Amino acid sequence: MTPANPAMELTDAPDDEFKVDVHNGLAQSPKRIPSKYFYDARGSELFEQICEQPEYYLTRTELEVLQKNASDIAAAIGPRAVLVEYGSGAGIKTRLLLDAMSEPVGYVPVEISTSALSASVESLAEEFPDVDMLPVAADFTQPVDLPSPEQDAQRTVIFFPGSTLGNFEQRDAIGLLRTMCIEMGANGSAIVGIDLKKDTAILEAAYNDAAGVTRDFTLNLLTRINRELDGDFDLAQFEHRARYNALAGRIETHIVSRIDQTASVGGERHAFAEGEAMLVEYSCKYSQEEFASMAAKAGLRVVRTWMDPERWFAVQMLERA
Ligand code: AVJ
Repeated sequence: MTPANPAMELTDAPDDEFKVDVHNGLAQSPKRIPSKYFYDARGSELFEQICEQPEYYLTRTELEVLQKNASDIAAAIGPRAVLVEYGSGAGIKTRLLLDAMSEPVGYVPVEISTSALSASVESLAEEFPDVDMLPVAADFTQPVDLPSPEQDAQRTVIFFPGSTLGNFEQRDAIGLLRTMCIEMGANGSAIVGIDLKKDTAILEAAYNDAAGVTRDFTLNLLTRINRELDGDFDLAQFEHRARYNALAGRIETHIVSRIDQTASVGGERHAFAEGEAMLVEYSCKYSQEEFASMAAKAGLRVVRTWMDPERWFAVQMLERA
């Protein structure tokens, strides 16, 4: 993984990793900062608010797909599975799956932020007393040794919802699918949520909500840099810009300088020209064919697809090819 990638894993990182990535990213041309740094406490809160905006259809559409097909998905998973989730779980989607599954034997959230991790298992442990809770504090983009539940398991199912895969550039997304292929074992599977290609106006509205929550979410990255890395970004002099790059099939989010200015971070000065755009996030959109061909490159095949009637969002089940 190179520092040139603006969008890798989405979890908290050690302080000095943030510092190194910001300093490297600001030294590049064009400037870029990985989107995983959006998620400090305030950023996570703003992301939750984004999910409630009328324009941001992703979360609600995926949830609807999971709800409507819960028993079918559970049947495809089969009995006595271990559910491995990439990123912090404990959300409504995790509950929905665990509820529908037949005798799930373990739940393994893989997450760097230990606070998110313990919050996640604490509430689920009460609701699912028969499921072994096995949190792993690790970066899911790297292969990890998954713990085994005490009860015997039929198979491993990796759950990666939310179109988080879309925050990775193609090469890294295939790399992550390859890691899943290894970790699921011979008869395992993965359930991956992906946002599908659709009308540009719908896509752009989702990342430019009228209430301005996404703008606040994006600019909060500068607030975080100011606070944690001794920065002096003037938030009034920067703006959020999210546009669909149809050729690349992705929403590209930039922080754009409104004027010629300099900002310093930890004593280092960085010049921003008027209109200069710093890349902070990719959110890739796929056709079903594109996703299937990425999966194939990772040694996986799509065995089931569940979608909403408008085909805006897909939940895909993958197995080893
Ligand atoms: C949940 C990380 C996939 O890219 O759509 C929402 C994050 N960024 N609005 C996405 C996000 C701007 C979201 N992911």
